[in-house]
Amino acid sequence: MSVNVEIEGEIAIVTIGNPPVNAVNRAVRERLLALAQELDDNPDVRAVILTGAGTLFVAGADIAEFDRPAEPPFLPDVIARIERAVKPWIAAIRGAAFGGGLELALGCRFRVATESARFALPEINLGIIPGAGGTQRLPRVIGVADAIHIVAENQTPGGAEALKLGLVDALVEEPLLPAAIAFARNALEHALPSPSLDRPVSVPSPDVWAEAEDRIAARAKGAAAPARALQALRHGIEHGAEAGLALERSIFLELRATEEAAALRHLFFAERAALRPAEIRGINPRPIETVAVVGGGTMGSGIAAALLNAGLSVVLIEQDEAGVSRARSTLAGIFDSSRRRGQITDDQASERMARLETSIGYGAAARCDLVIEAVFEDLAVKRSVFAELGRVCRPDAVLATNTSYIDPRLIAEGLPGPERFLGLHFFSPAQVMKLLEIIPTPETAPDVLATGFDLARRLGKIPVRSGICDGFIGNRILRRFRAEAEALVCGGVAIAAVDAAMRGFGFAMGPFEMQDMAGLDIAFLYREAARSRGEDVPEIPGDLLVRAGRKGQKTGGGWYDYAAGDRRPQPSAAAERIIVPLVSARNDVAEEAIVARLMAAMAQEGQLILDEGIAASAADIDLVEVHGYGFPRRRGGPMFQAGRASADKT
Ligand code: 3HC
Ligand code: NAI
Repeated sequence: MSVNVEIEGEIAIVTIGNPPVNAVNRAVRERLLALAQELDDNPDVRAVILTGAGTLFVAGADIAEFDRPAEPPFLPDVIARIERAVKPWIAAIRGAAFGGGLELALGCRFRVATESARFALPEINLGIIPGAGGTQRLPRVIGVADAIHIVAENQTPGGAEALKLGLVDALVEEPLLPAAIAFARNALEHALPSPSLDRPVSVPSPDVWAEAEDRIAARAKGAAAPARALQALRHGIEHGAEAGLALERSIFLELRATEEAAALRHLFFAERAALRPAEIRGINPRPIETVAVVGGGTMGSGIAAALLNAGLSVVLIEQDEAGVSRARSTLAGIFDSSRRRGQITDDQASERMARLETSIGYGAAARCDLVIEAVFEDLAVKRSVFAELGRVCRPDAVLATNTSYIDPRLIAEGLPGPERFLGLHFFSPAQVMKLLEIIPTPETAPDVLATGFDLARRLGKIPVRSGICDGFIGNRILRRFRAEAEALVCGGVAIAAVDAAMRGFGFAMGPFEMQDMAGLDIAFLYREAARSRGEDVPEIPGDLLVRAGRKGQKTGGGWYDYAAGDRRPQPSAAAERIIVPLVSARNDVAEEAIVARLMAAMAQEGQLILDEGIAASAADIDLVEVHGYGFPRRRGGPMFQAGRASADKT
């Protein structure tokens, strides 16, 4: 039974035990509804404590049920019944009380919590709004202004903060239950407070709504849910709780059925599954505390910052004094900017730098548990680095390459102990981007693979295993995406139209703006190298631009022109003239058709990647795109999009 009852004298203790996170599913709802009646009818019971089994209260409604229509009994009705129970219910909370969990607690007459408690209404992250009274009871318990932060802005107060807000009535020490029972006995001696929904609430000045709307709009990035959550909250304040509840529920059900919400649920489960792939279950990772990073350029510095942020110690190895001091100043700059943005304190910034050691020789790598190589993308240079590492590192140290394209098997050739080697492909900027592609070779030991996944978890990254192919999962799809974008331009579609369509879809930048920012030359050199090997690589507009000296923002122009010191792209007559030999007459294609072409290209490449066994699942491909390439989260990823497109056709 997922809801258990024990009677302790005159107090009933109701424990929701639905591992792993006590999510409220239909069985839990049915049982709670029945219990509210049973306990009201039990003459021996005077109060009811509601708690969660294990280390948390309740993580919310069971998201796995959201792909089906809502089934009775509905959570709002269960909560309303608890709120109107004759015997007062008291929520006893440790750990997360999220979403429907917080809504259940708000339906109780009292809330007691430990310091470990965390409160949130994270529904907006799933493209929905609270659907069981959260937008109505919360402002009546803590006031409108504070409630807005939790309902529509993802604020998650802990136990002490919740006490200050008035969200909990008492902060108690563990053990929680005896403290909650003592609280209940004391409460029974006094008059009961009103149910949350009946409490008076002061109507805020219009400024409060206007400011909240502005804050929410500024961060929305096209997401509808935060503004709708605010709308429900406001409606209840202006038209009364009953009207508020009705609007809240109807918005909840409307949004729950949208493609955006389905996309966000897909990613929610994919992200969690990614951390625990079946092939490493039960395998212990190797312990990692000190990591050497070889190469302190763009990637090495970012990787070092990610490691230092996660509490690891780092030895950064560069080729010379100039390299070391460049890397040190890059890292100091990274922490300084986190400090200025209020993400870390002065002390934390200094403490991170204190965990950084820099070195020119490889000697310090001898005491490292893991080495991540991030030197130039050149097989000979990488091999010479691993020859050194093979000599100095402990035989059990894990050795990793951050190569973007080179076959890791070639890099590891001749390495003593190849079972400790794998690819760990970070994305730029490595301290920010969440994706980590993990690329084992056929010789990589299972516990070395498990160490890669464990490292990702510790760094707060999303790991995706990739097989070996040119560009692994992400860069291979990127190449196809860019080729399709260029094919559109060759077919007469305006450069700016392609970019505008992809921005409209939700990317921060279109493919040509992105190329101008990153530089067109690296991909060009790559194509030239293939041509010089005799491969048949047809001429594309990007080749003409680079040959004309237009390598992107860094040369003042690429696909677009840029005024000095200004990163805003301006349509370029010069670029259009240069690519004319490869471009057909102007052909205006609708935005949706441009998006559909590019989505289809990504999904086709994704399907090949799946068929070849390079990616383990379509969901992994979506994670790569969302966390490594700026694919809009609310769109779920190219494979999710392809699934929807084919469902629409059937
Ligand atoms: N429903 C179904 N499954 C859930 C779930 C939920 N609400 N929350 C977590 N899970 C599952 C995860 O998928 C994962 O499953 P797996 O083991 O098969 O991969 C497992 O529970 C453990 O989850 P985490 O890995 O996330 O565990 P952590 O310990 O890292 O974090 C947590 C715990 C902070 C509670 C985190 O799981 C979380 O934030 N959960 C989601 C909370 C949420 O979004 N709640 C709102 C739900 S919508 C709602 O309540 C609607 C209501 O207003 C009507
Ligand atoms: P970079 O040129 O910015 O940095 C390379 C650094 O390595 C330089 O600071 C150089 O001094 C140092 N170095 C070279 N040889 C060395 C040696 N023998 N010992 C110690 N240090 C040495 O290059 P970047 O962009 O950081 O790329 C590094 C690796 O990461 C490459 O393999 C690249 O393909 C890969 N990568 C790059 C991404 C990017 O967006 N720049 C993204 C993901 C991977």
